[in-house]
Amino acid sequence: MKDGNDMQKNGSILVVDDEEIMREILETLLKGEGYAVRMAASGEEGIELARNIPFDAAIVDVMMPGIDGMTTLESLKKLDDELAVIMVTAFASVENAIKAMKRGAFDYITKPFKNDEVLVVIKNALERRRLVNENRTLRQNIQEQYSNFDNIVGRSPSMRRVFDLIIQAAPSRSTILIQGESGTGKELVARAIHTHSQRKDRAFVTVNSGNLPPDLLESTLFGHVKGAFTGAVYPKKGLFDLADKGSIFLDEIGNIPLETQAKLLRVMQEREFMRLGGMEVIKVDVRIIAATNVDLKKTMEEGRFREDLFYRLNVVNVVLPPLRDRKDDIPLLVQHFIEKYGEENRKPDLELVPDALDILMVYDWPGNVRELENVIERAVVLSTGRRIGPDLLPDHIGRPTIFQMPRFVVPPEGISFKDVITDFEKRLIESTLEAAGGVQKRAAELLHIKPTTLNEMIKRYDIRPRRKRIESSRVEQGHGEHVGEVVSVSE
Ligand SMILES: Nc1ncnc2c1ncn2[C@@H]1O[C@H](COP(=O)(O)OP(=O)(O)OP(=O)(O)O)[C@@H](O)[C@H]1O
Ligand SMILES: [Mg+2]
Repeated sequence: MKDGNDMQKNGSILVVDDEEIMREILETLLKGEGYAVRMAASGEEGIELARNIPFDAAIVDVMMPGIDGMTTLESLKKLDDELAVIMVTAFASVENAIKAMKRGAFDYITKPFKNDEVLVVIKNALERRRLVNENRTLRQNIQEQYSNFDNIVGRSPSMRRVFDLIIQAAPSRSTILIQGESGTGKELVARAIHTHSQRKDRAFVTVNSGNLPPDLLESTLFGHVKGAFTGAVYPKKGLFDLADKGSIFLDEIGNIPLETQAKLLRVMQEREFMRLGGMEVIKVDVRIIAATNVDLKKTMEEGRFREDLFYRLNVVNVVLPPLRDRKDDIPLLVQHFIEKYGEENRKPDLELVPDALDILMVYDWPGNVRELENVIERAVVLSTGRRIGPDLLPDHIGRPTIFQMPRFVVPPEGISFKDVITDFEKRLIESTLEAAGGVQKRAAELLHIKPTTLNEMIKRYDIRPRRKRIESSRVEQGHGEHVGEVVSVSE
């Protein structure tokens, strides 16, 4: 019994060699050190063994009849990517051994070898294997720990990859591009990156690039000198000044005009900029995090986005999947929002009944997590008892998707055709916007009209979007504390 334990402790090794005498030498040597050893006289046999038994390391002869050592190495790595494979080669063919290293071999030994040499290589291989395993467990622990990572809730594989990426990329200075549909949590991720970086005690500045006219955007970003343009009575610092040693979050980067893109590129490459109308070169150290919900590649092809800027931005790319592609996360998110809004509304211990959850699981969530959050907030506010049932969910979510024209009853005195049509159009747009989670582009798709047409109608009928964002940029210091609004424009 003792024997068996020792073997396990020391690891198990596969020896693949066509020469019997070599197999015997290695077997005696390795068993003598307490390793569990299995012998194979050919590549085929070795691969077959590895298919059935997990090994920690393999020693493979390069020159063998049948499947040669190189091919055996490749097959073994296919079975277990992390298996440490040590190649044995005749002195004359070290080149071969190097080739093998390139194909993923752990190390090589040349014949004739000294016993100690073999033992050292094996020991290293097993040590590496142990580290790899430990790392993997560590990673899994991190991921399990974070089904809520800085308030980013999710445990679907795609979200875990996002968490991993945040942990890996946050400490560096590299630019990060976050892509995802509206409401998928791009801003949350940007904040998490800042919080996990060494810049966390410095400013996190948000710029909503899409909202500002071009020159206002430039003076907002870079500041201006006195007299730079009419109305520039005082010199003003830009957000890049304020974000020095911190991070700047450029939201909707796809909307930035080409001229401003050139200036951004300069800040990224040279870490310097000039104020609008100014000559002085100002040095800054800012980490740039950008987000977009449009396909920048396409924007680039259409000539509306600089290629060089794209590649500069795209150093680390975080893609946030739409909620409909990770519905496993819905129950967790629901729980999270019930707790959040339960607390806010002093309604602890609320719970969602299974029927209601079923409805939420089936729905497609065009407005993604933001839409889900709104739905839960509404349900919490409207709830009177402890249970949230389907009745507290908005109609369009659970309703089977059939479109019904209303039945018209014309009053005896008659009715204005124009008014009815107008009212009808207005309501149709409102319902569609709701179904689209407030996303105009999606609503336009649902109605088979152009987004610009929809936008015109929304303006004409003065339809108010359910969600409004007023600030264009915010500066926060340290741990997300709100310091002050820099610019404030209405949509
Ligand atoms: N994984 C998540 N866990 C918890 N809350 C989330 C998650 N994703 C998004 N949210 C919430 O949904 C709302 C929208 O998130 P956020 O503003 O980060 O989205 P966005 O991708 O920037 O959207 P947009 O493109 O419209 O600006 C926020 O209230 C945010 O807290
Ligand atoms: Mg956003």
